[in-house]
Amino acid sequence: MNVIIVGTQWGDEGKGKIIDILSQKVDYIVRYQGGSNAGHTVVTGNKEYIFHLIPSGILHKGKICCIGNGVVVDPAVLLCEVEELSSKGINIGKRLRISSLAHVILPYHKILDKLREKKRTNKIGTTGRGIGPCYADKIIRCGIRMVDLLNPSIFRDKLKDNLREKNEIFKKVYNHPGYDFKSIYKEYLNYGRLFSKYICNTSILLNQAIKHKKDILLEGAQGTFLDIDFGTYPFVTSSSAFSGGACIGSGIPPTKINKVIGVAKAYTTRVGEGPFPTEFSSAFGKFMRNKGNEFGATTGRPRRCGWLDCVMVKEAVILNGISELAIMKMDILEGLKTIKFCSAYKYKGKVFKEFPHDLEVLEGVKPVYKEVSGWNKTIGNSKRYRNLHPNAKAYLNRLEDILCSKITMVSVGSAREETILR
Ligand code: IMO
Ligand code: MG
Repeated sequence: MNVIIVGTQWGDEGKGKIIDILSQKVDYIVRYQGGSNAGHTVVTGNKEYIFHLIPSGILHKGKICCIGNGVVVDPAVLLCEVEELSSKGINIGKRLRISSLAHVILPYHKILDKLREKKRTNKIGTTGRGIGPCYADKIIRCGIRMVDLLNPSIFRDKLKDNLREKNEIFKKVYNHPGYDFKSIYKEYLNYGRLFSKYICNTSILLNQAIKHKKDILLEGAQGTFLDIDFGTYPFVTSSSAFSGGACIGSGIPPTKINKVIGVAKAYTTRVGEGPFPTEFSSAFGKFMRNKGNEFGATTGRPRRCGWLDCVMVKEAVILNGISELAIMKMDILEGLKTIKFCSAYKYKGKVFKEFPHDLEVLEGVKPVYKEVSGWNKTIGNSKRYRNLHPNAKAYLNRLEDILCSKITMVSVGSAREETILR
């Protein structure tokens, strides 16, 4: 069975936890897009691990973890992760595989990301990890791939070409001194040497695994509304975060995908700029942010918080082909008198049941809310669905109706065991 896990909102839905649970049941775990803009923390026993690039499935013995061709790799971040895992006694051995086709984030990408952001009138609020500039180079065909780091003469030529153009831009547009060829060349060739044992043709590896009836989990970073096509452009990330990106970013054909599972938080959060129709007022937003500990795992920025937006999640269900949903952080809603969810938008007297593409409309819409009663009793130790507070169940039932999808997993706390599987 080959399953895609995808976020249905603006990232930080809690994909990491669902991936961690489902990783135990598969043979291969694949990251298919994004880079070190993603981040999640896994706590097992008394050890804490922070992942940006390597699938957290690496913590489970015997699992093979692939960084797919669709990912942009910052080798310095990857090296930190490899070293941290080794120092904590995790044997990576031959279990980490990096696509030779994955593009490499270079120092100039990270600086360009920050400088461009500074110059923009409408800031995106990027993570500053060089994601956009690296994907831009990939598309305009001057990118450097992992395989290039293994070939000194190809890498030299490509790096020289890039620096020739980029240093001009740095000087003339950004008043920045630019980059010296030698130090980057040396540093990145060394990364090539260090990672050579992991770099391979991951698409063939995965297709062979499929032939041998192995199970694969494809993990998306970010979420549907940060997707470069379907998200709230330009306030998005630069890759195909939705389920379609899984094939492009792994080399697994669409005919071999069996299921797509969507992950949604029981409310909504967003990091960075851009429209957010159901955003809370600032006082309630602050209250919920602290209640849910909504601070970015990568940049530590406070996340904006709001009610669950079913217009968005429903569209995500359709776009991704989701047949099952995991609803996360239900425990954070406990103690609220009423819980709202948005079922439509209103703009200039017109009702919108679909997510508007016009940014001005999206920025101006008023959410139409439905309400359910809240619950006071802690739901953190409900191990079974039937033991959930009736009002929590009522909320989930309403969501199943409006989102046209089954809810098969409900998270009621941060621990792995605090997840109800239906
Ligand atoms: P995970 O995998 C939340 C947001 C940034 C910014 C926009 C573009 O943890 O869900 P980028 O650096 O990608 O060019 O920034 O996307 N963003 C995320 N928000 N979770 C993430 O990842 C994110 N990755 C990028 O805040 O608004
Ligand atoms: Mg995040």
